[in-house]
Amino acid sequence: MAVRRLAETQPKDFAFTPDNLAWAKREITKYPEGRQASAVIPLLWRAQEQGGWLQEPAIRYVADMLGMPYIRALEIATFYTMFNLEPVGKYLVQLCGTTPCVLRGAEDIRKVCQRRIGEQEHVSADGMFSWREVECLGACVNAPMAQINYDYYEDLTPENFEKLLDNLAAGKNPKPGPQIDRQFSAPVGGPTTLKSVGK
Ligand code: FES
Repeated sequence: MAVRRLAETQPKDFAFTPDNLAWAKREITKYPEGRQASAVIPLLWRAQEQGGWLQEPAIRYVADMLGMPYIRALEIATFYTMFNLEPVGKYLVQLCGTTPCVLRGAEDIRKVCQRRIGEQEHVSADGMFSWREVECLGACVNAPMAQINYDYYEDLTPENFEKLLDNLAAGKNPKPGPQIDRQFSAPVGGPTTLKSVGK
């Protein structure tokens, strides 16, 4: 895994919105006295959702809320790849690059990402997209696949993936899941077993 560093350009400060602050205070109460630091991951996650990416002042803000040394919160933020240490596009494409997806055509999807969005971890000029390659996302049966923001898009081909990006760019909400005529993870073309009632 590449070294994960904080973005060079950072905002001056960070504070939770009143709603997020109320949520964070409730979250902290879930942990036993003296163990409030255990709330660090959910709080960092909420800070990322609020800011679009995890900003350095947000890491300090969360550490202060939990009475943790900054370095400990920073260690967590830089360890877990789910934390975006630099700005990302409105749509973050996380393309699976592990063996089953590669065997099923992920390299072709990667080429579409490079052509349509640019290099990994860079935001497209219109701010709409960024992408990165990730390890197996656990949907290998529907390879190749990508996670875009919170949804999985599966059974990708260069054609249906391009269309997916077009729809997202146009503000539409493409249906997550298999992008071919397939029910969830059932066999392509329909059931292959248990098709008739036994005697
Ligand atoms: S290998 Fe791509 S989801 Fe598992």
